[in-house]
Amino acid sequence: MSSSLKEQYPWTTYPIIANAAMGGYAGPALAAAVSRAGGIGFIGALKDMAKLNEQLVSAKSLLKDGNFEVANQVTLPIGVGFLLFTVSLDEAIPVISRQLPAIVWLACPTQEEDFETWSKAVRKASPSSRIWIQVASVSVALRVASTCEPDVLIMQGSDAGGHGPFPGAGIVSLVPETRDALDKGGFSKIGIFAAGGISDGRGVAAALACGADGAVMGTRFLASNEVDLPATGVLDVVLEAKDGGVSTARATVFDDLTGKNIWPPQYDGRAIAGASYKDFKSGVKLAEVQNRYASAVKEPHRGFGGELRAAVWAGTGVGLVREVKTAGEIVKECRDSARLCLERATKSV
Ligand SMILES: Cc1cc2nc3c(=O)[nH]c(=O)nc-3n(C[C@H](O)[C@H](O)[C@H](O)COP(=O)(O)O)c2cc1C
Repeated sequence: MSSSLKEQYPWTTYPIIANAAMGGYAGPALAAAVSRAGGIGFIGALKDMAKLNEQLVSAKSLLKDGNFEVANQVTLPIGVGFLLFTVSLDEAIPVISRQLPAIVWLACPTQEEDFETWSKAVRKASPSSRIWIQVASVSVALRVASTCEPDVLIMQGSDAGGHGPFPGAGIVSLVPETRDALDKGGFSKIGIFAAGGISDGRGVAAALACGADGAVMGTRFLASNEVDLPATGVLDVVLEAKDGGVSTARATVFDDLTGKNIWPPQYDGRAIAGASYKDFKSGVKLAEVQNRYASAVKEPHRGFGGELRAAVWAGTGVGLVREVKTAGEIVKECRDSARLCLERATKSV
């Protein structure tokens, strides 16, 4: 990398852990807590840019209240993530140039070229903000490296909770192959963060051992004090889920439940394999799955309880998520544990 991560993000402590920019779930409280703990906090934006602006203002004051001081005064020491297929670039740019987030995270474009359009516009609006782009394959990583020159590529493995392009590989093969391809292509200065299935320090250590410069966790932070959950039932489902390769599944049916799937066709999402998924897999027609979902939504639990008809987005690492902690505790514990894991691994060889 051209300069060390510590130079680019001076408030961080190695190994760097970031929370995923989960739209609607990762708000100012989560982002501020993660950055305050020496990680990189991200706010995940949805469509509403006025709300994002408020969230960034609120994150700024949360950081100030916590006496959070950083050498880098130009940008706000948190990042903001955009789902490109649904956000208007013209509406996002004024918020970015006003609030100057340290990082702008770009994901899920309708077409790959949108990454380039966004990168150029973001650089113009806020030259000091770094650009991180989430992709899920070596080939896209290489193309994006050459068209956008991002500071970091977030390599999203197929274990990831939430949406991503399919098909894909797990991070154990995806990260090292991408690192090799980037180095060979003359892109060694681009960093890699691994995402997908990392829920504790052992996963962070594995990502680093595979050549990642840091780790992104989404699902783990669903059981944090600071996350915004759409319903109380979500937390129970996350804490109860075990054996994530079986209890979660990647599918498009989760987005079809309301009858208004807004996602471009190249994306599916990993969620808890509840009743809607199981019905659909066993041959129940989509219209009937949607009817059953519509009835469940009218219950007090809004489909997030009972046999689980609503989508609870979670990665395969959900079985390792067993208790609620503060986001700061999660960051510190995963960091310390990753260090120990790496020490132990080299000692015992
Ligand atoms: C509830 C949830 C919401 C998510 N929302 C977004 C999003 O808005 N934008 C995005 O780029 N990724 C989103 N993701 C995917 C994450 O960026 C990341 O790839 C994933 O969380 C990593 O896998 P993990 O959940 O196993 O840690 C979401 C993931 C989850 C679990």
